[in-house]
Amino acid sequence: MFFLTPVLVAVVCILIAWIFKNADGRSMEGRKGENRARAQTRPWVDEDLKDSTDLQQVEEDVDDWQESEENVEHIPFSHTRYPEKEMIKRSQEFYELLNKRRSVRFISNEQIPMEVIDNVIKSAGTAPSGAHTEPWTFVIVKDLDVKHKIREIIEEEEEINYLKRMGRQWVTDLKKLRTNWIKEYLDTAPVLILIFKQVHGFAANGKRKVHYYNEISVSIACGILLAALQNAGLVTVTTTPLNCGPRLRVLLGRPANEKLLMLLPVGYPSQEATVPDLIRKPLDQIMVTV
Ligand SMILES: Cc1cc2nc3c(=O)[nH]c(=O)nc-3n(C[C@H](O)[C@H](O)[C@H](O)COP(=O)(O)O)c2cc1C
Repeated sequence: MFFLTPVLVAVVCILIAWIFKNADGRSMEGRKGENRARAQTRPWVDEDLKDSTDLQQVEEDVDDWQESEENVEHIPFSHTRYPEKEMIKRSQEFYELLNKRRSVRFISNEQIPMEVIDNVIKSAGTAPSGAHTEPWTFVIVKDLDVKHKIREIIEEEEEINYLKRMGRQWVTDLKKLRTNWIKEYLDTAPVLILIFKQVHGFAANGKRKVHYYNEISVSIACGILLAALQNAGLVTVTTTPLNCGPRLRVLLGRPANEKLLMLLPVGYPSQEATVPDLIRKPLDQIMVTV
């Protein structure tokens, strides 16, 4: 009896360890399966843009990351206040300007003033960013050969997207827009703006700098850029070329910490440009006042 007890305890321990190991293995498998299923049901989530592990990495390799040591002076804020009537007029006019913005997929090859491009990019660069990290790079492509290479890469990937990756529901949802994998505007638009998010930055000593909320920050900059283009009288279409990021990054010689978020072909609308007759939701459907 006294001899059996330690043996029995050991057997029970082994049994418990085995049960836990199996349960863990099964839940790991389950999680992997769930991820696979989620990827299949959310095909619009670009593989290259997934970087939610960034912050985990910060904790793991603390020595590779640079803390900010900057000491910034705080100065009085300069503000322009308008009379209420003027505020209402300005906000109404701004809305009317933005309400005329449309995604235009037929762009003429007429050249545009590059000073306008400088100004719209400067406007985009005024966007707020997590911890003022300004995690954006705007690549301006004017060169005909480079534009054509971009078109070739995108059309090749988009054909696979439409035929295989996107799935029936997404392709059906896009039918009303009459889009497909042929993107003539990538050749005709005088300027392509490729917007990259920097998933992290580099300090002067080469250590990596955390770029908090980099995707939200860059998306806000893109929104300002769209408004600035509209204000300047140019057209574009917001595009997110699915699974083209790595090839376009290499083509444009951008570093590995940059990931393609958006591509905007910019120019004047072509004479025969058409747009789908879409209706925007009214205020009472998009605003809730508490
Ligand atoms: C995140 C995002 C991704 C988009 N991707 C594409 C795209 O890849 N190709 C395209 O032709 N339009 C794309 N669009 C444009 C939408 O189809 C367009 O905004 C929508 O149909 C509403 O039309 P509007 O921009 O004229 O108001 C995208 C828009 C957003 C906001």
